[in-house]
Amino acid sequence: MEAQYHALIDSFIANKIGIAPSFISEALSTALQARLTLLSEQGQLQQAGTGNASVALQNKLFRSDKIYWLDRSHQQPAENDFLDMMDAFVANLNATCYTGITGYEFHFAIYEAGTFYHKHLDQFANNDSRKYTMIFYLNPNWLPGDGGELCIHHIDSLQLVEPTNGTSVFFQSNIIEHEVLLSHKQRMSITGWLKVN
Ligand code: OGA
Ligand code: MN
Repeated sequence: MEAQYHALIDSFIANKIGIAPSFISEALSTALQARLTLLSEQGQLQQAGTGNASVALQNKLFRSDKIYWLDRSHQQPAENDFLDMMDAFVANLNATCYTGITGYEFHFAIYEAGTFYHKHLDQFANNDSRKYTMIFYLNPNWLPGDGGELCIHHIDSLQLVEPTNGTSVFFQSNIIEHEVLLSHKQRMSITGWLKVN
């Protein structure tokens, strides 16, 4: 894992956007895909909100993914393996970069064909506990032309990241504006936030 931590942290320091192309093993990604597919089939995903708009329709015009929060209380092996991996990563980050992270939260997300998430910041206006955003893509066989790119809005340029299997992205939640471009096929991921409370 150390090599992947370095890939993510070094590119974050150099470019503001950390990218590690194989942060999640193929085995774990496969297990997480199976878990997410089952949750979706069972109707356990919820329409995502934006944390401030109160009207459901308004939310839907802004982001149209469906989500499910990971939790150890589910006693589900794939979720626990993922959270174990995050515990190890956060311990490493705190030890090497003095980040002082005290907690985290992660949700699965599915963008069905025809969905998107407009440009936004990940920090709420009334709560600054989210410090770093981490995203993990769970899409084998993603092809150029499938859409669904993560689009990062730098001050004077745009950066596109393909949601390819195993890739992780890491950035500061309060300063990096980003969006998910229209996806042309089902797109699966885990998104979460490292927090200081
Ligand atoms: C989010 C988000 C980006 C992505 O869930 O807040 O911006 O690439 N996700 O899935
Ligand atoms: Mn976001």
